[in-house]
Amino acid sequence: MENLDPVYALNEIPHPTVIVTVGNYGENGRYNGMTAAWISRVSWDPPMVMVSISPKRYTWKLIKEYREFAVNIVSEKLKEAAIEIFGKLSGRDVDKFAESKVKVVKGRSIDAPVILDAPIVIECKVENIVETGDHYIIIGRAVDAYRNVEGKPILWYRRKPYSIGVEL
Ligand SMILES: Cc1cc2nc3c(=O)[nH]c(=O)nc-3n(C[C@H](O)[C@H](O)[C@H](O)COP(=O)(O)O)c2cc1C
Repeated sequence: MENLDPVYALNEIPHPTVIVTVGNYGENGRYNGMTAAWISRVSWDPPMVMVSISPKRYTWKLIKEYREFAVNIVSEKLKEAAIEIFGKLSGRDVDKFAESKVKVVKGRSIDAPVILDAPIVIECKVENIVETGDHYIIIGRAVDAYRNVEGKPILWYRRKPYSIGVEL
């Protein structure tokens, strides 16, 4: 048996990979997208989802203000942008959509942008926020959802702390 540091053991849980989009697409500099792995379904009826976001993120500021967000599933086509741009840079400093050339339009039922190349988009309205630990849990009700293109979701895990593995 190998003893594990719980901090790193949690990294061995396979995670989904999504880009959470927030803000108002009609307002310059007031919308953003951020890669998130700490996301899960939390209720069947009504359909609800949670995403855990650090209050240090620009995404957190916009989610708190606009109280809506979209979950954009990441496929192979969006993988590099998700890891290198949406998961590394901050919307406080750069327009990540312009930087990555990832195309967005306004959501159907929310004002946040949604990603045209995301296989699945789920639009959510914030129902509750739980401030816990160094990340806050945002619980949203899925109010709209659609398939944009074909593409398989990416599963994510981190081996020991230093390398990121991405698998279908
Ligand atoms: C694969 C991956 C998964 C991530 N998952 C999360 C997450 O679940 N919650 C979080 O707060 N940050 C997560 N991050 C980090 C943010 O995406 C990153 O800090 C981002 O630059 C924040 O951007 P913002 O300041 O524009 O909001 C993840 C990064 C990567 C690469």
